[in-house]
Amino acid sequence: MHWRSLRFLFLGLVAPALASPGPSFENTAIVRTVDLGGSVVHVTTTYAIKATKPGAKVYTIALGLEEKEKTSWLEVKVKGQQEPLELEHYPLDSSRNFHLADVKLPKALALNASLNLVLETLQTHATTPYPKEASQKEDQALKYSTDLFVLSPYHTGVQRTKLKALTPRIISHTTPANVQEFILDAPATKQGATVTYGPYNDIPASTNEKFIKAHQQPITAHYFHEQPVLEIADLKRSAEISHWGNNLNIEDNLVLHNAGPSLKGHFSRLEHQSQAFFKRAAPHALPALTLHLPPGISNTYYYDLVGNVSTSHLRVAPAAPKGQRSNRYSVLELRPRYPILGGWNYSFTLGWDAPLSDSAVYDRKTGRYIVEVPILTPVPGAVVNKAELSIVLPEGATDVEFSPPFPALENRLSTHTTYLDSTGRPKLTFEYENLTVMHAQSIFVSYKVPLAAHLTKPFVVSVAFFSVFVLAIVTRRINLTIHKEKTL
Ligand SMILES: *[C@@H]1O[C@H](CO)[C@@H](O)[C@H](O)[C@H]1NC(C)=O
Ligand SMILES: *[C@@H]1O[C@H](CO)[C@@H](O)[C@H](O)[C@H]1NC(C)=O
Ligand SMILES: *[C@@H]1O[C@H](CO)[C@@H](O)[C@H](O)[C@H]1NC(C)=O
Ligand SMILES: *[C@@H]1O[C@H](CO)[C@@H](O)[C@H](O)[C@H]1NC(C)=O
Repeated sequence: MHWRSLRFLFLGLVAPALASPGPSFENTAIVRTVDLGGSVVHVTTTYAIKATKPGAKVYTIALGLEEKEKTSWLEVKVKGQQEPLELEHYPLDSSRNFHLADVKLPKALALNASLNLVLETLQTHATTPYPKEASQKEDQALKYSTDLFVLSPYHTGVQRTKLKALTPRIISHTTPANVQEFILDAPATKQGATVTYGPYNDIPASTNEKFIKAHQQPITAHYFHEQPVLEIADLKRSAEISHWGNNLNIEDNLVLHNAGPSLKGHFSRLEHQSQAFFKRAAPHALPALTLHLPPGISNTYYYDLVGNVSTSHLRVAPAAPKGQRSNRYSVLELRPRYPILGGWNYSFTLGWDAPLSDSAVYDRKTGRYIVEVPILTPVPGAVVNKAELSIVLPEGATDVEFSPPFPALENRLSTHTTYLDSTGRPKLTFEYENLTVMHAQSIFVSYKVPLAAHLTKPFVVSVAFFSVFVLAIVTRRINLTIHKEKTL
């Protein structure tokens, strides 16, 4: 009894503070643009904000719960600037049906000062094929749903949401209800490839039950999508570091999944070839994939369950000049034995060797090697549902530390033994879900190899190159120590 009343009191005190965290701001305007895609949907929300109190420096953003669940990547910046702002997410709270995060502004705003903030998110698995089946001759259409209003704890002058398809072929879109008090014109208009919801004017603070009950509602667009909807159902990347061979071997085992409408009826190669001939290939069939691999690679291999695939094509970019980074990449066109149709899986293995000196440095002062290992090679437009990265370090490596660009769901340090090793090699493993092109970043691994002075020759690199690694390590120092503790 006592406990209950206490909790009640506590909630009573805290709830109003959450619903309206002292309106230090108002939104002059909010514009949200949704780039309707396949398995990845890019959402950009621009908040034109104005301080209504002097010294305001923490701005709160809100996401609907469903939207939060679909969001695999999120970043807030000041418009036109490169550095993402620091974000603090509120803990999950089942009494609210929205998610909140505080954005730390670069400096406190004076009264009436304004700023444009840009929230960028990538949503994954946010579209569904409709109809669910399509024959080889038929089109592919997808449905995407979201909430009508961008929620905010602040009053908003004007708000718009734009749903943008790749082509004007939008089959239908929802016309919202209960928005008369915010509009002068139509609640939704379609023009070309864009459906615009709003402008909606003079919207009160909306992170509360009352507003959500009265006005929040799902909106859906149904649109033709002329590219295959791709997922990497499973990615297993193994990176092996060899100092003796000055080699970094990367091997990917992938299960590619076409998440478009399932193929209705049988696959006809003749039909496929004639479509290709008339350049009308089915939008849901994937004939080939183009990947960007690092420069200077060798011994590239690609095989599937049947054996080597000879119909692929590789153009290797030259390695970076000694001691420099290259912006160039090798281009690999993967051409499976047959086109991958809706609902189909295709498993294959892809691997290559690269000079270790292109991605490693030796720090004489600490006696440590630092090696950069990319988490994944992005497949354009595809989400990676599950990924496991393992990094096998040289035999005898000690004092292992690592610095991930974002936290893994799980990571561990174990020992990998092959017949050539006597003591086994330390192996780091990282697990992830729902990775996108924005997650195509690198993990920096650092370790010592005792008695390896004679091996350091390939790692004599310029100061400029070295500083890239050191910077990456320094800026992630906090992560590094936290994760190190976890693995030990
Ligand atoms: C801030 O704006 C309000 C309303 O627009 C105005 O009344 C007030 O004088 C302004 N204050 C300052 C310090 O600019
Ligand atoms: C694939 O081809 C390479 C060289 O072309 C060969 O060394 C390798 O044994 C082949 N692998 C399979 C599985 O056929
Ligand atoms: C495709 O692969 C995924 C993940 O490995 C699996 O869950 C699914 O059942 C596979 N689908 C087919 C049609 O084999
Ligand atoms: C990844 O996406 C799937 C499907 O939307 C979801 O069920 C799963 O919880 C997500 N995983 C993580 C770690 O967010």
